[in-house]
Amino acid sequence: MKRKLIVTLLSATMAASLLAGCGGGSGSSSEAKSEAPASSAAEASTPAEASTPAEASGAEESAASDAGTAGGGKIGISMPTQSLERWNRDGSYLDEQFKAAGYETVLTYSDNDSGRQVNDIQNMLADNVDLLVVAAIDGEALNTAMDEAAEANVPVIAYDRLIMNDAVSYYVSFDNYTVGKLQGEFVESQLDLANAGDKTYNIEFTAGDPADNNAGYFFNGAVDVLQPYIDAGTLNVVSGQTDFDTVATAQWNTDTALERAQNVLSSYYADGTQLDVWVCSNDSTALGVAQAVTSDYAGDNSVLITGQDGDEANLKNIVDGVQTMTVYKNVSNESIVTLALAQAMLKGETIDESLIPSFGIDCAFDTESYETSEGNKCPSFLLVPSVITKDNLQELVDTGLYTMGDDGYLAAAQ
Ligand code: BGC
Repeated sequence: MKRKLIVTLLSATMAASLLAGCGGGSGSSSEAKSEAPASSAAEASTPAEASTPAEASGAEESAASDAGTAGGGKIGISMPTQSLERWNRDGSYLDEQFKAAGYETVLTYSDNDSGRQVNDIQNMLADNVDLLVVAAIDGEALNTAMDEAAEANVPVIAYDRLIMNDAVSYYVSFDNYTVGKLQGEFVESQLDLANAGDKTYNIEFTAGDPADNNAGYFFNGAVDVLQPYIDAGTLNVVSGQTDFDTVATAQWNTDTALERAQNVLSSYYADGTQLDVWVCSNDSTALGVAQAVTSDYAGDNSVLITGQDGDEANLKNIVDGVQTMTVYKNVSNESIVTLALAQAMLKGETIDESLIPSFGIDCAFDTESYETSEGNKCPSFLLVPSVITKDNLQELVDTGLYTMGDDGYLAAAQ
């Protein structure tokens, strides 16, 4: 009885310190940050209004068969959308792994609608979740829900994408800058840019969603490697479109990326100018760019196209030589790290790099790179991405998460 009381008191103290994770817990962000009118308006929409058939399943709530044994709490898992392949994987891995550890889960997808995501998180709080795992649609548009989580003493793990609110206790992601750097270095080594002499290669860029805090990291990682070659004239951006906002793709949408690529090709390459490289920040945008190159590019050379994620359609394009590489991020491992972190948080354990050996996954504890508001660092666990080309697809099969058919194409393992 006495021990239980001490544990309860400890948990309350830990909860207070967990909530202080990214920024000293002064609640300053809610005071300092007012939401933009656009997002306030968006937040007024109801889940029903925002629903589409793809997301119609809404919140799935389920009790683990052994709830209360190992875990004994309820976890709210808020994913952005089912329309981009990876989040379906993340959602199911997180859901399965938390359940297997004895937690109840509430899993929602918010159809890339921030207002709906706020609503989904508010419903989770009303449902008395003990911890939130949130992959934000828009890192700047969740203040209402985050402030309510802080008021309810519910700790938040920002999953994959950082949320700009100090209610976030910890961030679990991959090293996002390295993702872009790997893309840039791949281009550099494939074209042997360092030894290109007077040769010039023509290049274009497609970046991600400006609302996603990751998108700038990916873009900068690639550009930082390639900029010296652009400055030296070894790489030539024929369209002149090098600014992040100009090459960004709202919601990482494949059709938006396709349309911009078609415009660039018809405006700058229709006269027979050779295109050598198209750096795409991820696979959903690479899919659109590859489609535009296949249908609208006049040249017959093969264009080096980068990507990120290992989506099935892109892996097929890699086998077919339509896309050249993808930066793979094992999201099953990302969910394992998230579960281990959540367990440690809920048990009131010390959270620092000493946790990493228990993950059994290559990962860094970073207390410098990410901030939830100016000056407020967010302690982060960052996993390690890797490059996949048609020559090492077997590495994906070796993870056990993909199978290779007789035709050589990969599919997600069931
Ligand atoms: C993720 C990428 C993904 C993109 C679009 C980013 O936040 O880190 O893996 O390709 O969102 O879903």
